[in-house]
Amino acid sequence: MNPRISVVALGLSAAIGFAGCQKVQELEPEPLKLAVPDHFPDPIFGTGETAPTAAGFELGRRLFYDPGLSVDGTISCGSCHAQVHAFADHNVALSTGVGGALGTRNSPALSNLAWYPTFMADGGITHLEVMPLAPLMSPVEMAADSEHLMSYLKSHPVYPRLFQNAFGGEPTGQRLLKALAQFQAMLVSANARYDQWALGQIDFTDTEQRGYDLFVAHCSTCHTEPLFTDFSYANTGLDSVSADAGRYRVTLDPLDHGAFKVPNLRNVALTRPYMHDGRLFTLRSVVDHYADGVIVHPGLDERLPGPLGLDEQQREDLVAFLETLTDYEYLANSQISEPR
Ligand code: HEC
Ligand code: HEC
Repeated sequence: MNPRISVVALGLSAAIGFAGCQKVQELEPEPLKLAVPDHFPDPIFGTGETAPTAAGFELGRRLFYDPGLSVDGTISCGSCHAQVHAFADHNVALSTGVGGALGTRNSPALSNLAWYPTFMADGGITHLEVMPLAPLMSPVEMAADSEHLMSYLKSHPVYPRLFQNAFGGEPTGQRLLKALAQFQAMLVSANARYDQWALGQIDFTDTEQRGYDLFVAHCSTCHTEPLFTDFSYANTGLDSVSADAGRYRVTLDPLDHGAFKVPNLRNVALTRPYMHDGRLFTLRSVVDHYADGVIVHPGLDERLPGPLGLDEQQREDLVAFLETLTDYEYLANSQISEPR
């Protein structure tokens, strides 16, 4: 295993185990190293000013899994972003928020967010520290109001000390967002079979190799290695007129109607159902869409000229390649799981 690919490199012990002690500790200044795998580009977030600290990361981790942040104490970030599904929801098309409210988009898997220039299927959010505001405040997700949230954090038995330790002060909205961003920045998935192959450590099977070659020929213009997205927006011909305006909501450019951000495909075998509304239930059905389901219309992305017309073997090979993107170390990593 590549020694550089361990999610949290340094100093976590400084933050763990301190919650029980009464004395407020000095701010732990030691920065956490964001593990940048050898075959990855430089991240956008998590270095320099935004570098996570052990204390900030550990606070963010507690917050991520804490349903107490939601208006009725029932829904945490982790409710819709579950580690066993690579931080996607539990195989449901749409997620349930407070009071049983249903959202309108499929919960995406979360990984390698420190490399993301934009967030959401329409790219409406452009900074990892602003990102948590949307789910926290959304009436169909956590529906938190800031007054309730702040009094929850300030009167909590543990949080005031964790905020003190991480940021040298009491809980504030901005510190809450920074801590959540620090936790999310450390969600690095880079040890799938694909990565071991890319680093020359293993060979693909024949079917995986054929699938990879097809992927490079037909898919990687949008799902670019090694992050498996180029962060562009594309209309993939799911509908002739999309019910969800997609990127159009941000740009108001009619050509962007029904275009969505190219999703990161890491761990995709575990994140069904697929597409912005979760309409396709299996990886095979996604490949079938590209093979013969693409609707040709004026908005269709030019990088996808139409149905690819793949044969049975090619479809199986593509699915076999997509399955090499599963990173079992990421799924089992206790440093990013719900704190006990
Ligand atoms: C009720 C379910 C739900 C909850 C709770 C929730 N999310 Fe999400 N999350 C979603 C959905 C659905 C989307 C996709 C929304 C879109 O694209 O418009 C999303 C998108 C995201 C993204 C963008 C990923 C990308 O690919 O661009 C991030 C990051 C994220 N959520 C983090 C969080 C954090 C942090 C919290 C807690 C503060 C949280 N989520 C709470 C359902 C949820
Ligand atoms: C023109 C750019 C483009 C090309 C080419 C492309 N994709 Fe996609 N892909 C997208 C976009 C955009 C989405 C999201 C669509 C949506 O949410 O409605 C997507 C979604 C997916 C998903 C679902 C991911 C999820 O989490 O929901 C998979 C799997 C996928 N593509 C695989 C492939 C494969 C395999 C190929 C090649 C046969 C391919 N893509 C070619 C842009 C592209």
